Amino acid sequence: MIEQLHRLEETALDELEGLSSMEALEGWRVAYLGRKGALTDILRSVGQLPAEQRPAVGQEANRVKLALEQAYDEKAEALKREEMLRQLVEEQIDVTLPGRPIKPGYLHVSTQTLREVYAIFAEMGFQVLETPEVETDINNFQLLNIPPYHPARDMWSTFHTTREGILLRTHTSPGQIRAMRLYCPEPIRVILPGKCYRYEQVTARHESIFYQVEGLAIGRHVTMGDLKGVLTHFARQMFGADRRVRFRCSYFPFTEPSAEMDMDCIICGGKGCRVCQYTGWVEILGSGMVHPQVLRNGGYDPSVYTGFAFGMGPERIAMLKYRIDHIRYFYANDLRFLQQFA
Ligand code: DAH
Repeated sequence: MIEQLHRLEETALDELEGLSSMEALEGWRVAYLGRKGALTDILRSVGQLPAEQRPAVGQEANRVKLALEQAYDEKAEALKREEMLRQLVEEQIDVTLPGRPIKPGYLHVSTQTLREVYAIFAEMGFQVLETPEVETDINNFQLLNIPPYHPARDMWSTFHTTREGILLRTHTSPGQIRAMRLYCPEPIRVILPGKCYRYEQVTARHESIFYQVEGLAIGRHVTMGDLKGVLTHFARQMFGADRRVRFRCSYFPFTEPSAEMDMDCIICGGKGCRVCQYTGWVEILGSGMVHPQVLRNGGYDPSVYTGFAFGMGPERIAMLKYRIDHIRYFYANDLRFLQQFA
């Protein structure tokens, strides 16, 4: 019997050595150490031996059992280690591979233009003030000398809301009223940028959504000369030091006198082309001296204070600067257009 145990031990250990997977190891365990395994069979039959042989055989059988169990544990450990090493090699990540490039975002051409405008006016002491896009009819029109049913309303085709007297602002000029009421009686130098809305057919130069930048300066000695100086400086900073400008009489209900500023056409240099409609000049902005009634509506006494105001479309500025021939590109989200300003 002892002989049989030794043979069993030898074959079992031999076999164990050749195993290379956890499944095979489990098979081995069942075959030798399992409830119906070879060693268990022998252990069970010890009881049938003559009494004097039992202790020696029993002892040897237990030794073999412990030896096999220990060998099993070691093998299991070794297989696990091998498996882990194999995984480490197979699933290795090559950290030297170049990554996929991340495309950084960039500012929209309208935003870039707006920021250029802010910077130019900031140097002249103008601060930026943002005012609401949803406005009252009172601020957008009435306090700017445009009463209900007045023909001047035809200058702005309006999106009305379902709330009586509430609309989408058609220009940034109502910001003048807000700025005056906010700062009165202090002097003012502000830039009022923001989106405006008009119920309009889209053409090369008109969109129903667009930006405007409004400017307002109020003080005790603000003159038309200041208006011309500030706006001429702006045009030269924005478009080049040798730009020529001209002020042309115009009409806006909220300024008196009113003027539009033209600049020599940067496309043809003033010779005449399609962009300037063969006049040599392009219109840049509307402006004027703040109307006394508007000053009063903002809280300022027009016998003490004067002011100038202006309004421009930054998309039109960008169109001239970058020679963009249609305003619809700005808000069509076509990457081929937008990426040119990255
Ligand atoms: N609000 C005018 C418009 O949308 C532009 C404008 C003209 C603004 C003259 C002004 C100004 O402040 O003085 O057409």
